[in-house]
Amino acid sequence: MGKERALYVAVLAIACLFVLVGYNNQTKIRIAPKEMISVAHRGASAYAPENTRAAFQKGVDLQADYLECDVHLSKDDELIVMHDDKVDRTTDGKGYVRDKTLAELRTLNAGKLFGEDFVGEPIMTLQELVDEFYSEVGLVIEIKNPETYPGIEEKVAHVLERYDDLSGIIIQSFDVDSLKKIHSLLPDVEIAILIRPTDSFMSQQRIEEYTAFANYINFNVSFTNKRMVDLVHEHGGKVLVWSKKDRRLIWKAQKYGVDGIISDFSEKPEEMYLAKE
Ligand code: G3P
Ligand code: CA
Repeated sequence: MGKERALYVAVLAIACLFVLVGYNNQTKIRIAPKEMISVAHRGASAYAPENTRAAFQKGVDLQADYLECDVHLSKDDELIVMHDDKVDRTTDGKGYVRDKTLAELRTLNAGKLFGEDFVGEPIMTLQELVDEFYSEVGLVIEIKNPETYPGIEEKVAHVLERYDDLSGIIIQSFDVDSLKKIHSLLPDVEIAILIRPTDSFMSQQRIEEYTAFANYINFNVSFTNKRMVDLVHEHGGKVLVWSKKDRRLIWKAQKYGVDGIISDFSEKPEEMYLAKE
């Protein structure tokens, strides 16, 4: 190889290296940057069975600002931390949460999704979650299907009323009426309205109505855009975005200028630590 050609190859190789390093740096930011709120969706559910003590502890270990959980009511009116209204997908049982007592739910293995490593992981109540974790991390409590559980708002309020400082609590739901009720019961607690993909493009009037009592309007990241986020901000609201599948969650979150992300923490833990330092 002539000198000139060797120099050309060397320059080309260095250029390629720069491009690769640049690409890596751009795509490596997969978790919430320091200035964004980081919420562990159903706990750090990429690492441990969703909505269990193990997933919540993992969220704390990974320095989430908040742990997100979902709640239903059991047959004997206990607030149960679980995503689905049935136990089938996440436990070794069958049937609706509302048809089982807490004692019956306690016999189920909620570690099913992660197999052998989490056999025997129990279902938690909201009371246990708040008692065990609220002293060290914020909580985002999602009320699921409130129309199925008359009085669930009062039950949630009752669990929280024992705490003097509720500034680390956010209550969210897709059901606006239920959130209005929570707001009247717990006026100091932050409220987040979850927006369904089909309702993503909201009128100014709707945003005004929502931000009159809610602190956050939260979207699936695939069904919002910068204009919508700007509009919420202009009305004094904040925005969290979530996604289970969109690999560009962080990239979009930054581009849209949202206040935080709700994710399974399915990125490398060492990068999460780096971002929080
Ligand atoms: O926090 C947003 C998210 O939890 C809403 O969806 O189905 O995971 O409860 P889902
Ligand atoms: Ca949820």
